[in-house]
Amino acid sequence: MLDIFKKKPKIEEKEKLLFKINPSENITQLPDVTDRESFDVRYPLIPPYSYAHIFWDKPNNEMVYFVEEPKLDDSDKRTLNILEDSLKELIDISFINIKEEDVVIEYLEKNIKILLNEFGMRITEDTLQRIMYYIYRDFVGLNEIEPIMKDYFIEDIECNGSQTPVYLVHRKYRNMRTNIVFSDNKKLAGFVEKLAQKSGKYVSYANPILDGILPDSSRVNATYTQDISSRGPTFSIRKFTKEPWTPIKLIDSRTVSPEILAYLWLLVEYENNLMVIGATASGKTSFLNAISFFIPPQARIVSIEDTRELQLIHENWLPSVAREGVGLASGKPHGEITIFELLRESFRQRPDYVIVGEVRGQEAFVLFQAAASGHPMLSTMHAEDVATMIRRLETPPINLPPSLVQSLDIVCVMSQAKVGKKMTRRLREISEIIDVNATNFRINTPFLWDPRQDKFYFKTNSTILDRISVKHGISREQLNNEFRIRTKLLWAMYQNKIFGFKEVQDIINIYYKAPEQILKKFNII
Ligand SMILES: Nc1ncnc2c1ncn2[C@@H]1O[C@H](COP(=O)(O)OP(=O)(O)OP(=O)(O)O)[C@@H](O)[C@H]1O
Ligand SMILES: [Mg+2]
Repeated sequence: MLDIFKKKPKIEEKEKLLFKINPSENITQLPDVTDRESFDVRYPLIPPYSYAHIFWDKPNNEMVYFVEEPKLDDSDKRTLNILEDSLKELIDISFINIKEEDVVIEYLEKNIKILLNEFGMRITEDTLQRIMYYIYRDFVGLNEIEPIMKDYFIEDIECNGSQTPVYLVHRKYRNMRTNIVFSDNKKLAGFVEKLAQKSGKYVSYANPILDGILPDSSRVNATYTQDISSRGPTFSIRKFTKEPWTPIKLIDSRTVSPEILAYLWLLVEYENNLMVIGATASGKTSFLNAISFFIPPQARIVSIEDTRELQLIHENWLPSVAREGVGLASGKPHGEITIFELLRESFRQRPDYVIVGEVRGQEAFVLFQAAASGHPMLSTMHAEDVATMIRRLETPPINLPPSLVQSLDIVCVMSQAKVGKKMTRRLREISEIIDVNATNFRINTPFLWDPRQDKFYFKTNSTILDRISVKHGISREQLNNEFRIRTKLLWAMYQNKIFGFKEVQDIINIYYKAPEQILKKFNII
């Protein structure tokens, strides 16, 4: 064994690292599929090394997702194999679990350089970078799957054995075959062992089922079989099981101000209809989830989504997901139930609030009709501004009449914005819908974010608060008072660093039942 770990580099020896990942904070805006057969899109996964390439595979008549990685010729491959084998013998596996990726990369690159030196191998800087990509992918990441794990748009990854392609579910383009194939059962079994190790579990032939959580909180299920009749081990990974963003975390990230949240809290309590809009990955769903914390604790909530993303702890919450059990290998989901069907069904359950993950098509009609007849709804929609949203609602395939669009009370516009050098999420504006007719619409904008100063501005005139006052017989003074108190409470929670899912919900719930108790605790009254 080479004794390379004793050679600790001195500070002055610190050399420039060649391998660097440039993660982009911007999430690619993906185009709609207009013509399948000419569809061709490419976006970075681990830039500048690997890319996703999605295109129409003519011979097989299907959309495919190819992972493109740096090319290695035979001689590079041999070098990589030698280096990987030597590193495996030397490396301390527990070190690889270290959280700071930069530290691990530095450690790996230094040792690779030492190994190259010991073996007397000479390679160009460019080759070294490409080799480092694979070393990083296999030692720090999840091997062939790593680039896909880094793809924001991927929901599920599924492998049904060796010598058969890995399939995935994409947020925008749904089910696709990939170009990743595990060549034999031994390799796949090794990969399942790695999944187990990463999730702190153990699999064996005696104990062949893995059900675990990976370090990035993705859920993993796998089987470790060597049944000759099957194609060997299998695995599936479900991404996105993050702790939801709580309203207080949104204050912490400066996405909103406590005033905005206090205002939304009142609006949600008094059953207004709310739509969160914005571009892809602007934080719509996270915001919707955070606002749902304000729904009174005893309310009956029905939620309908394409993919299970919302997380609430209301006792009376009935979550449902439109797409059932993905039969990926067979290419089509079985027992499909659409959002439209679920929504129609949900109104039989007499919900107090209806949450629809994202409005896209014909389900909008049912949703807005219900909203117009007094079932408050909360939802998201892909649109950059209020005018675009209204146009989208009124034209095909949604085709809502203006009278139904008008049942919407408020629109929250989310955006990804650069503040200083950092990409952040900000609630750009809140608009109250006053009137929508066939040719025009009128809105009032009580909140606006000023990008130059990164500040939120609040105008005191709110048409919706006036409406609540009339409809529920509460004076504006009372509402203003509530607004002030809730702003203080939210601010106090932030100052006391109460960010957690359950802690935040508990305080909101107590405020509904015994406000004085919680206000005293935070010295507000
Ligand atoms: N306020 C925020 N601050 C920082 N990051 C955020 C914030 N809200 C959401 N994110 C992160 O941004 C990503 C996208 O969030 P989310 O899924 O809520 O966006 P979306 O607009 O619903 O996306 P899509 O268009 O795909 O439905 C997630 O990784 C999430 O953790
Ligand atoms: Mg979303």
